[in-house]
Amino acid sequence: MDWGLKNRLAKIIKPQNRRGVMLAVDHGYFLGPTERLEVPRKTIAPLLPFADSLMLTRGVLRTSVDANFPVPVVLRVSGGASIIGKDLSNESITTSVKEAIRLNVSALAMSIFIGAPHEHESLVSLGNLVNEGEEYGIPVLAVTAVGKELEKRDARYLGLACRMAAEFGAHLVKTYYCENFEKVVTACPVPVIIAGGPKLATELDVFNLTHDALQAGAAGVDMGRNIWQNDHPVAMIKAVRAIVHQKATVKEANEIFLKIKSESSQNKDQLQQKSKPTQKSKSKK
Ligand code: 5RP
Repeated sequence: MDWGLKNRLAKIIKPQNRRGVMLAVDHGYFLGPTERLEVPRKTIAPLLPFADSLMLTRGVLRTSVDANFPVPVVLRVSGGASIIGKDLSNESITTSVKEAIRLNVSALAMSIFIGAPHEHESLVSLGNLVNEGEEYGIPVLAVTAVGKELEKRDARYLGLACRMAAEFGAHLVKTYYCENFEKVVTACPVPVIIAGGPKLATELDVFNLTHDALQAGAAGVDMGRNIWQNDHPVAMIKAVRAIVHQKATVKEANEIFLKIKSESSQNKDQLQQKSKPTQKSKSKK
């Protein structure tokens, strides 16, 4: 592997333990102002210190992330369909590699849509993006998208999609966790990371998902909604991070979550107390 490509990949998947925590905030590219990502800067800023890398579009990167903060960027470069349109698989490459270099990104990301109407175009785009990325030493993350058909998320389908992504040259694959996930990982010769998917019912569900995926061989997470749609996003990312990097158990991750949650609630209470007018200042009025 070329030095530049290897170096960029090492910023995303840490060579010490071959794991990584990627924070996904690219949802607006087809969902618009997703709940709790309405003002991207507000959502992203408190989480940045705990993410190994950040996945997003150039628009949100330029407008909503401080260029002085040294977080490795995984740039989504595909798009072209919206949640209210006819076919989510109708995507093309929308951002050039020149632009990605200008933005100093560590990887390029695009979706592939296996079994969907635009399967062919998305696969050819992946091959072309890998060709171009390799020229400049920029790795490519392939996202095995399922569009609105969440029920597609089984080992047979995801195993096919992940393997095909790797065959087309993707350096990293993002997919969903499923039963028999080890089959998906074993048959994919490049690191596999998992998306969180729509918000799960409880924090424990998220920790179990993360833990089980890593046990089955995943190299980490590229998680969004289950972190920033939680009322305590910093506590969530820290707990998920502990599972990925410190081999924390589900129980330990939950303890981390509860501890940070209670500390932040206490801090909030104290701030509210301080901002309440005292008896003295009230009587002056
Ligand atoms: C959408 C994406 C998202 O980044 C991905 O789904 C991860 O986010 P979440 O954990 O919210 O599912 O690639 O196509």
